[in-house]
Amino acid sequence: MERFSFQEAAFSECRNHEFSVAVDLKSGARNYRLNPAMLLADPIEQRSLAERLKPRIAVEQFFAQTGRKFRKKNFVLRHERTVVRPYLKFGLQIAGLYRRGIKNALAPLIRHLRLEFPDLPAAFHGFQILHISDFHIDGCPGLLEALAPMLSELEPDVCVLTGDYRFEDEGPCEAVYPLMRSILSNISTKQGIFGILGNHDASEIAFSLEEMGVRMLVNEAAEIRKNHASVWFIGVDDPFDYQCADLDSALAPVGTDDFKILLAHTPELYDDASQRGIHLYLCGHTHAGQIRFPVIGSLRHNADCPKNYSYGHWVHKGMHGYTSAGVGCSSLPIRYNCPPEITLIELRSQIE
Ligand SMILES: [Fe+2]
Repeated sequence: MERFSFQEAAFSECRNHEFSVAVDLKSGARNYRLNPAMLLADPIEQRSLAERLKPRIAVEQFFAQTGRKFRKKNFVLRHERTVVRPYLKFGLQIAGLYRRGIKNALAPLIRHLRLEFPDLPAAFHGFQILHISDFHIDGCPGLLEALAPMLSELEPDVCVLTGDYRFEDEGPCEAVYPLMRSILSNISTKQGIFGILGNHDASEIAFSLEEMGVRMLVNEAAEIRKNHASVWFIGVDDPFDYQCADLDSALAPVGTDDFKILLAHTPELYDDASQRGIHLYLCGHTHAGQIRFPVIGSLRHNADCPKNYSYGHWVHKGMHGYTSAGVGCSSLPIRYNCPPEITLIELRSQIE
């Protein structure tokens, strides 16, 4: 009886969505409940967040019950928290590099990118997208204070968040919420904020972000209209650990000739996306390696894709992609030779 206790904040926020979560306070395991009425909902109700998250929640339950994940982890990843992390920190401290790594990680920059598209509706020429990825906000003390003044200076048309709000990939989420709320209060846009989930996120984070005003795209699309023209933002669930990305469902309402911007946590859907006519693919997850060496770059890029798709701008069969280096850190709050970034992307229609 005492093993599971309801998290009051999450429970009350999720009540509107006919959804609740109970958490094992010792292991962090979650037990999700959907209102059975949701299963019989009409087509509009079926697009509720709880309904769209059902595949993800099923996978979370499978992980919690079995202790397994779909992706096999190598020795380094299996022992990342208990062995690699403390020894890496100790080694960097001995070498006198640890403080510099923290300082680097708290110095985000704004990258500017202009991309031309022959198919972009003329009404969207000059449209600005602020892309932020991989906050891991509860594990990076000081990042909020560094980010807030930068964000408050900008006013893009749209802001997109490509996942990984939490530092660890399991355990409680409560520390994430007040920090994300502060960050979001510093973002002002003309047409809203879209978000997707990453592999470090629990599905309950999606409910909280929606309550904060983020339109969470879980295998669905949203249309932005301007002067009788439109572009579509298509968001998929995590293709990495949870493997719940469903491009077919997400693209269902989108026409073949529509201009399409895909939000996915990792770059791994690059080939599927280009075959489905995506014009711009925005993602993160890799942190650009987080520790990069001169000349050789990162030792691993942590995604099943060509290495040059794991950082920065890339093109695949005519589709533009951008893989953000991310604004936060995982494992340790340090970075070397790959500064944290937010990215301001301007779309251009080649009308000049
Ligand atoms: Fe990730």
